[in-house]
Amino acid sequence: MYEDLKDKVAIVTGARRGMGRTHALKLAEQGVKVVVSDISGDDCQKVVEEIKALGGTAIACQCDISQKEQVDGLIKKAMTEYGRLDILVNNAGMLQWKPFLELTEQDWDKLIKVNLGGYFLCSQAAAQEMAKQKSGVIVNVASIAMGQVGVGFNGIVHYCASKGGIVAMAEAMSLELAPLGIRVNTIAPGAIDTPMAGLDQQDEKTKEATFARIPLRRAGKPEEVSNAVVFLAADASSYMTGSVVIVDGGWLAG
Ligand SMILES: NC(=O)c1ccc[n+]([C@@H]2O[C@H](COP(=O)([O-])OP(=O)(O)OC[C@H]3O[C@@H](n4cnc5c(N)ncnc54)[C@H](O)[C@@H]3O)[C@@H](O)[C@H]2O)c1
Repeated sequence: MYEDLKDKVAIVTGARRGMGRTHALKLAEQGVKVVVSDISGDDCQKVVEEIKALGGTAIACQCDISQKEQVDGLIKKAMTEYGRLDILVNNAGMLQWKPFLELTEQDWDKLIKVNLGGYFLCSQAAAQEMAKQKSGVIVNVASIAMGQVGVGFNGIVHYCASKGGIVAMAEAMSLELAPLGIRVNTIAPGAIDTPMAGLDQQDEKTKEATFARIPLRRAGKPEEVSNAVVFLAADASSYMTGSVVIVDGGWLAG
């Protein structure tokens, strides 16, 4: 247990399912009060009920992270309900498979507005509150598809651009926010078994080909990424800012 996390307040975006859900549950397990947020509000309430059933504290908040007014509403909801904001987990994201030569300007704008623009809007609005408290932690979920790692990915140029952008943005933000007591770190997951990865829809041959590239020979479980989120949210990582933590079963080492 990370004792310092008890009674802290966190917002987790994209938390109705997949990794966001397990980030919310794992933080709640540590005594963090969690705002479970997603573009789809109904399923957030189910995660809130799961947290409450385990003795934790949480509320749901529908929010499209690409819309500034909704993001401002999300931060306001956390402040109104819990009176402070200690942790922002930028996790919400979308993926679209399309060959580069077929990508439209609309495809590009839509994905970048969510995956990169949404992280900017949430980070800025959260940091404005955290700066008043002179403390806070922002944890971003990027991807090993962030570029400059020796592995490339076909058919997701705009997704890769967004994930590389998150890393660069977080690094630059960490400089400006360190004097204000706010740390910013990024996690780069490999293949994690969530609805986005769609492993359950792939045939055995395709899955085997992916796993053959991963030294641990399997996909990660969402909880295995959430463990890193909890560590980066806690004082245990107090000397880390501007860092990228890779959680990929050894893919980039292989
Ligand atoms: N699954 C993987 O293999 C993998 C690998 C590397 C990185 N990631 C990243 O991890 C994060 C979590 O993804 P996941 O795998 O759990 O996928 P997921 O699709 O299960 O979850 C993503 C969530 O984000 C929400 N969302 C999408 N657009 C939104 C918006 N505009 N506003 C608010 N919420 C929105 C979705 O509703 C969904 O609940 C994403 O940023 C993704 O890019 C995933």
